[in-house]
Amino acid sequence: MASSSTIPGKSRSSLPAWLAGLGKRTRLVWQARRARRDVIGGGPNADEIRRMLERAEAFGYFEWPFRLRKDVVGQDVLDVGCGSGLHGLGFIASGARSYTGVDPSVSPDEDRVRQKRKRKDGRIPFESFGWTPQQIEALLPQVRLVCGTDQTLPEETTFDRIVLHQVTEHIMDLDLALARFRRRLRPHGRLLYKHHSYTCWNGHHRKPKTIDEIDPDDPEQRHYLDWAHLDTRPPEEHSMGMNRVRLDEIRAMTERHFRVVTWREKESSERLGGKRLTADILARHPGYSRRELATQSVFCVAEPKA
Ligand SMILES: C[S@@+](CC[C@H](N)C(=O)[O-])C[C@H]1O[C@@H](n2cnc3c(N)ncnc32)[C@H](O)[C@@H]1O
Repeated sequence: MASSSTIPGKSRSSLPAWLAGLGKRTRLVWQARRARRDVIGGGPNADEIRRMLERAEAFGYFEWPFRLRKDVVGQDVLDVGCGSGLHGLGFIASGARSYTGVDPSVSPDEDRVRQKRKRKDGRIPFESFGWTPQQIEALLPQVRLVCGTDQTLPEETTFDRIVLHQVTEHIMDLDLALARFRRRLRPHGRLLYKHHSYTCWNGHHRKPKTIDEIDPDDPEQRHYLDWAHLDTRPPEEHSMGMNRVRLDEIRAMTERHFRVVTWREKESSERLGGKRLTADILARHPGYSRRELATQSVFCVAEPKA
């Protein structure tokens, strides 16, 4: 059997870090499994809770929380712009101590959720999940789903983590909101967000969102297709609900209130129009860099400034 020092590509000096990384990942997966077991528990509702978690996972709501699991284990999490709030089940199953989701669209007794896993026809449908926000809260008292914004919560309520998944592009007073998030974080707190950039191929949030939705016969799409949404200042209704913040602006706003620990920009895939960025399109948008037009999203982790 090969000794650890003979593993190809691993020098004696790099092995401890590699082993430590593997150990950390194994520990996190183990912690997440244990967290899920603890959430299900052994009470009279155990079966129902298990089925509810399985359905939220099947709907695609475990991927984002699982990505953040090392940051949320044992923490009180606030999810601003939580949508349906089903990410909350993923956060709790990933080991978060509690989850509070706020969104103006939360409807306590309505069971209507956007599936995150696309169907074969490419649509992301609204479906019945099986449990309303009220029923989720009754089964899992560590989950709270609030209709409103962060400002709806009492000022003195604080959290260890504030997370936003594809919401920063919608908040109109983003700079003020970031200042409020900083005040709501406890010492050693962290802000974590995934930002969908307005300047990427589908940053308009309208059709076509993917290249298979391109329809040359749809006159509406001409306003958006292939970065047309950036050509002129569009009529208000074309970017309703979008703050159109640019990459360097959101970074500067974040840095006004936080110390950025991680800033990861991801380019658009082919399906999301990445390959449609031509020299011609770049030439038509002299006010934008290639990076701005090509970047689909940003993953940011930040700590409050003292
Ligand atoms: C693209 S959806 C993302 C929903 C959810 N985070 C997810 O990934 O499933 C954007 C959400 O942000 C919410 N939103 C917009 N402005 C907001 C604000 N100022 N405060 C809280 N939520 C807001 C909208 O209601 C919407 O549900």
